[in-house]
Amino acid sequence: MTAPLALLTDVAIDQDWRGYTTAEHRVWSTLYDRQAALLGTRACQAFLNGLEVLDLRGGIPDFAAINVRLENLTGWRVIAVPGLIPDADFFDLLARRRFPSARFIRDASALDYLSEPDVFHDVFGHVPMLTDPVFADYMQAYGEGGLRALGLNHLPHLARLYWYTVEFGLVGADSDLRLYGAGAASSAAETVFALESRSPNRLGFDLRRVMRTRYRIDDFQQTYFVIPSLDALLEATLADFRDVYTSLEGAGDIGPEAVLPTDRVLTLGTQTHAAETGGRPPPQ
Ligand SMILES: [Fe+2]
Repeated sequence: MTAPLALLTDVAIDQDWRGYTTAEHRVWSTLYDRQAALLGTRACQAFLNGLEVLDLRGGIPDFAAINVRLENLTGWRVIAVPGLIPDADFFDLLARRRFPSARFIRDASALDYLSEPDVFHDVFGHVPMLTDPVFADYMQAYGEGGLRALGLNHLPHLARLYWYTVEFGLVGADSDLRLYGAGAASSAAETVFALESRSPNRLGFDLRRVMRTRYRIDDFQQTYFVIPSLDALLEATLADFRDVYTSLEGAGDIGPEAVLPTDRVLTLGTQTHAAETGGRPPPQ
């Protein structure tokens, strides 16, 4: 499914790379150095390869420079957008291998607080994985699936798939779990929590199970879903989602902390973090 080309120009803005201040570049470098040090043994090889080839060191990257390398590798491009954009525009961009990124960066006084995704989350977190051919295909397929889902009343199910894969996904086996999700990979605290804390569950990925599972937007995740490989993720999501949605009719939501008898459990979490912070999951 394609949408009018005009849509792209409707949401895209100029990154205005020359407009960034020295202080803003310094925030990027501080965050970059911290995350790069943490991720060397914690991000999956595809992420680390992407980080290397994109060369995101030394300040907020110029999207034009990223795009020369990225487009050459997988045909993806990064475009600047003014902030959160409508679902239809978001899916349309992904389906066209365009990744929307904020242009602003968080303030130096609040390195770990984000009210909405900034350029560090969007570019450092998401773009390295877009250099991987399999993940690049998955993201395009997700966008195409989103366009098809727009009229089907199943966007919450699709949003959970994005959340538990693109934002907070883990890959590998019990003995060598790695991050590929951008939400975790761009956050120092959640990078460590996702992999090393005893609090969250780590469960084998199952498409319908993930789509039924509510998630936390206000705290660390209570459950992370683990794929054996990126190929397995792409394969699992090639199903006709109309059939998946039909099978989800009447199937209730699952709490973010729940473990079911049918789950493949890698870690049965203690949920102590959630108990200590007392956060109640918001309805989704
Ligand atoms: Fe994100």
